[in-house]
Amino acid sequence: MLPSLCIGELQLETCLLLAPMAGYTDFAFRSGVRHLDGLGLAYTEMLNPRSVMQGGGRKRHALLATGPADHPLGWQIYGSDPVLMAECAVYLYETRQPELIDINMGCPQRKITGRGDGAALLRNPELAKRIAREVAAAVPVPVTVKLRIGWDTDQLTAPKLAAALPDCGISAITVHGRTSKQKYTGHSDTAAIREVVQAVQGIPVIGNGDVLSPEDAERMLETTGCAGVMIGRGALQNPWIFEQTKAYFKNGKTGPPVARCRHTDFMLAHLDRTSALYGAENAAKLFRKWLPHYAVGLGISKPRMVELMQYRKTSELRLELKRSAAPGFAD
Ligand SMILES: Cc1cc2nc3c(=O)[nH]c(=O)nc-3n(C[C@H](O)[C@H](O)[C@H](O)COP(=O)(O)O)c2cc1C
Repeated sequence: MLPSLCIGELQLETCLLLAPMAGYTDFAFRSGVRHLDGLGLAYTEMLNPRSVMQGGGRKRHALLATGPADHPLGWQIYGSDPVLMAECAVYLYETRQPELIDINMGCPQRKITGRGDGAALLRNPELAKRIAREVAAAVPVPVTVKLRIGWDTDQLTAPKLAAALPDCGISAITVHGRTSKQKYTGHSDTAAIREVVQAVQGIPVIGNGDVLSPEDAERMLETTGCAGVMIGRGALQNPWIFEQTKAYFKNGKTGPPVARCRHTDFMLAHLDRTSALYGAENAAKLFRKWLPHYAVGLGISKPRMVELMQYRKTSELRLELKRSAAPGFAD
């Protein structure tokens, strides 16, 4: 049986979490995964406190969009100003009823770390702890931290920082087994995740990185001793990974592949929700980044996928996607 997971007072049905992914884990995608089984908790993409609290416009509306079925949901924020971060957590708490607030200490992008945000906090543990303390004290829901194993292989600071976070009021820690310098190259290091698990007392540690199958999830739990598994890219290509992992733990074997019609319905419903969220005039363009992921699952050829990327009108793209996904379609 797949273990459940408790973060502070929050009891999750399974220990499988959908990772925060900028540009991907919006309300349109999360809603689709919610209809499937096995997901314990989903996250928003990382949010800039200023964008959350100021201004209006369609982009902000889409970033903050959620709905009654979009729970439990963790809202991830990033930044290095403890006061602003705490204010943002309060704003989200008062306006969005989050089950949980997560602090990003792992983003490796230069435009983020260059300002001292994201993974740069791994090199500034005193500030990282201050942010954790201020945010955790500001809201009555669990506050968690997501980090990488260190800045680079000479500075594997995650175990020491993570060990101090429970005393700052943090309720769980997610660790991605790569350094910031590595970005997405090489492999996620399960031994390094295990070191974080062993360093932290009293709160759950969630393992993350390179989980693409139920077997990978099992390996992550067994080799690191972590309490939960967060899945990112594996869920973009295969949103069914949560239900497949739940079934794998129950039955001890992998089930049949996802039926083509389920895949097609999921994709078209995702496009419809993207259209509702961002406007039909923007949806075809925004959906382009999803086409390579769906093409793999549906066996759509690369040339056909490139062709599909040219469609500007959402209604046309929808028709063509349906045609390409039909059994026996030959390009
Ligand atoms: C396109 C993309 C966007 C991401 N955005 C975020 C983000 O907003 N916040 C965050 O903490 N991590 C972000 N990540 C990192 C993932 O949450 C995760 O830690 C990483 O992809 C490793 O897990 P995986 O191998 O299961 O994908 C992003 C990753 C990708 C590929």
